[in-house]
Amino acid sequence: MAVILGIDIGGSGIKGAPVDTATGKLTAERHRIATPEGARPDDVKGVVAELVRHFGHKGAVGVTFPGIVQHGVTLSAANVDKGWIGLDADKLFTDATGQNVTLINDADAAGLAEAKFGAGAGVAGTVLVLTFGTGIGSALIYDGVLVPNTELGHLWLRDKHAETWASDRARERDDLNWKQWAARASKYLQHLELLFSPDLFIIGGGISKKAEKWQSALVLERSKLVPAALLNDAGIVGAAMIAEHRTGSKQKK
Ligand code: BGC
Repeated sequence: MAVILGIDIGGSGIKGAPVDTATGKLTAERHRIATPEGARPDDVKGVVAELVRHFGHKGAVGVTFPGIVQHGVTLSAANVDKGWIGLDADKLFTDATGQNVTLINDADAAGLAEAKFGAGAGVAGTVLVLTFGTGIGSALIYDGVLVPNTELGHLWLRDKHAETWASDRARERDDLNWKQWAARASKYLQHLELLFSPDLFIIGGGISKKAEKWQSALVLERSKLVPAALLNDAGIVGAAMIAEHRTGSKQKK
């Protein structure tokens, strides 16, 4: 059994827990530290190091980031400090913690975890996981294999990025009831359905806890849609999964 520390960087909290990557279960209670105001790299680095110390963890660590992550470098920052753009954040966290850190986009992490241990377990074909929160995150998975950094929340829709119109933040900002929000989200999902023909949509993020409010109001033409099953833990679990995958392949070289 590999136990890997997963850390999920979110807009309001940075959460971590050790994960048994064979089962996707947390092996200790989650620990959460509030995200420092502004979410600047140096401040976030300090919190990640504190979480590693909290668990006395030695070995691989997976960390999520709410933006594009390519080869360990953070390349966008839609909802966090712009200082992340072009930063070798993998190295930043590896140096700060003294452990081997692997970085992954937050929605990609949640998607990997949902596809293997959550609402997509056992589903073959194309699974599209969308997280609705401050932004909209996306993970495209085919037969368990992730295509990273799809960034479908930034698809242009009605002259705007979809997330500025259909995220949970947009629902709150525009004071929409769930039915009104679901009408927007359905338009967005139907467009994705046309582009990707997913076998299954999994809807995650903060709204997944309140599925009874929106599930029946989301209308698709032909795909199945289910709420995410892992709720708050998906990012942590997926971060640990990718860290195991990367460090495993590094050891084999
Ligand atoms: C970012 C994505 C992220 C999503 C959810 C978007 O604004 O561009 O990378 O996955 O928000 O946090």
